[in-house]
Amino acid sequence: MANHPVEQLKQAWYSLPDYEQQHSFRSARVAVALGAKLGMAEKELVTFWYGAMLHDVGKAHVDRSILLKPGPLTPEEQIVVRKHPQHGHDMLAPIPGFKDSLDVPLYHHERWDGYGYPRGLKGEAIPLAARLFAVVDVWDALRAARPYSPPWPDERAREHIIAGSGSHFDPTLVEQFIYSLRDKRLTMPTTSVLGRLPLN
Ligand SMILES: [Fe+2]
Ligand SMILES: [Fe+2]
Repeated sequence: MANHPVEQLKQAWYSLPDYEQQHSFRSARVAVALGAKLGMAEKELVTFWYGAMLHDVGKAHVDRSILLKPGPLTPEEQIVVRKHPQHGHDMLAPIPGFKDSLDVPLYHHERWDGYGYPRGLKGEAIPLAARLFAVVDVWDALRAARPYSPPWPDERAREHIIAGSGSHFDPTLVEQFIYSLRDKRLTMPTTSVLGRLPLN
C-alpha cells in the first residue's frame, strides 16, 4: 500500500528531521490557540490544525543534506526548498480528510506585499488561515534551534515580526499576535482539536 496517498503522507511525515516535526507541533498549537482567540469556529480550528501540523510536510521531497545544512543555502538549494509548499499541497490534496486544509500548506510562504511564494499572492488574496499561520510559523522557527542558527531570544523574534508588519505579514494580524503574546492569552482552547489527524 506504499502508493496509497495516506501511506505516502505518513512516510513523508516520519522522514522529516526531528526539529521539523517539533516545529510543526509547536506552531500548530500556537496557531490554533490564536485562531480560537480571533473567533474561528471549531470546525475551522480543526482544519486549521491539520493544515498547520502538515504545513512543511512537503520538505520530505527536499534532500536531508539540505534540511540539515549547518550554513546558508546556495541559490540552487533555495529553489529546491521553495518547492515544499506545492509538494505538501500535492501530497494532501488526494486525501479527502484534508480537502479543507490545503491553504496553510500551500500559502504559508506567501507575503502580504506579494513577494512570497509559490504564487506571489498579495494582501487579502492570501487566504486568512495562511496569513495567520505565516506569523506563527516565523515566530516559532526563529525561537527554535535550527541547523543553521541558534535560537533567537523572544524579544528579538518579536521585533522581527513587528518589522515585517505590512511587508511580510498582514499588519492587523501582527498587531493581534503581538497583543496576544503580551497578555499571555495564547492558551489552548478547550476543544477536541488535538485529536488524531484524519489518516485512516
Ligand atoms: Fe514552510
Ligand atoms: Fe514552518
